[in-house]
Amino acid sequence: MKPDLLLICPLFPATMAQLDAAYTVHRYYQATDKDAFVAGLAERITAAATAGHEGMSVALMGKFPKLKIISCFGVGVDGIDVPAARKLGIAVTNTPDVLTECVADNALALVLATMRRTVFNDKFVRAGNWLKGGAPLADKVSGSRLGIIGLGRIGKAIAKRAEAFGMKVAYHSRNKQTGVSYDYYDKPLQLARDVKILVVACPGGKETERIVSREVIDALGKDGYLINVSRGSTVDEPAMVDALVNGRLAGAGLDVFVAEPKVPDALLKLDNVVLQPHVSSGTHWTRAAMGQLVVDNLAAYFAGKPLLTQV
Ligand code: GLV
Repeated sequence: MKPDLLLICPLFPATMAQLDAAYTVHRYYQATDKDAFVAGLAERITAAATAGHEGMSVALMGKFPKLKIISCFGVGVDGIDVPAARKLGIAVTNTPDVLTECVADNALALVLATMRRTVFNDKFVRAGNWLKGGAPLADKVSGSRLGIIGLGRIGKAIAKRAEAFGMKVAYHSRNKQTGVSYDYYDKPLQLARDVKILVVACPGGKETERIVSREVIDALGKDGYLINVSRGSTVDEPAMVDALVNGRLAGAGLDVFVAEPKVPDALLKLDNVVLQPHVSSGTHWTRAAMGQLVVDNLAAYFAGKPLLTQV
C-alpha cells in the first residue's frame, strides 16, 4: 500500500510522476467538491506537497489534523504561514540552493536585456526597421552601480555576477551582513538614491510587501532601472507602472507580478520593459533538482529521518 499524499496544485511534470510512483496522490486542485474531498481524506493525510507561492492556507491545514509535513516546490514559501504551521505541528520544507544560480543568471539577463534593449532590438530587426536606419542607443551596463534588496543566497549570487561586470554593488537587507564588502544601506530609499540598477531578490510575504514603494521608485529615478526576480508583492506595482509610463523610471525587467499570470495592460505596451512569465528558476536542470528535493523531503519524513531543507 502506497502512503497517501495531498497535492495542492500541479507541479513540474517529472516531479508529479515521481510522486505518483511513490504515493497515492490526492489532487486537491482537481476536486470539484472540495468539502467532500477534504472530509473523505481528513483523517488519512499526514503529508502534502505544493508550490511555495500557491502554498496552503491555515484554514486548509486545520482540516487535516494528522498533517505533519508540507513539502514545497520553490524557495519562497510566502503562500504558507510558517509560524501558524509550526503551531499546528506541521513542518514546512522548501527548495533552496539548487535554484540560486539560475535565478541569479536570470536577474543578470534582465539587467542586460532591459538596459541594452535586447527585446526591442530583436523586434526592430524582425520588423525590417534596420533597413530604414539604426536603432536608438541603449544604456551602458558594465561599471554601473547596482543595488540589491535582500542579500541572501540569491542576492549574493547576483552580486558576484555584477562584480564580473565591473559594477559597484551595494545592498539593503534587514541586517548588515558579515563577510561581504558591499556597502550596506539600512533603508531601501537611500540605496535607491545611490544606484542606477535596483534588483529585488528578497523573499515575498508581509514583511517585504511594497518594500519598493513609490518613494523608492522615485528615488531610483528617470535614469534608473528596476529588476524584480522575487515576488510581485515587493513592489508598489501601480506606482512602478505610473513611473514607467511617465518617464520617471528608465526601465524595468520583471519576472514577477502582483496578480500573475495577469500583467498590467500598460506594461504590455512599453518598450522600456522586459517581461518574463516567472521563470527565473525555469531551466530543465534546476526544475528537476527542485522536484527532487520535494520528493526527498517527503521520503525523509516517511522514513522517520531528518528533513533535508526545513524552513
Ligand atoms: C520561485 O519563485 C521560488 O520561490 O522558488
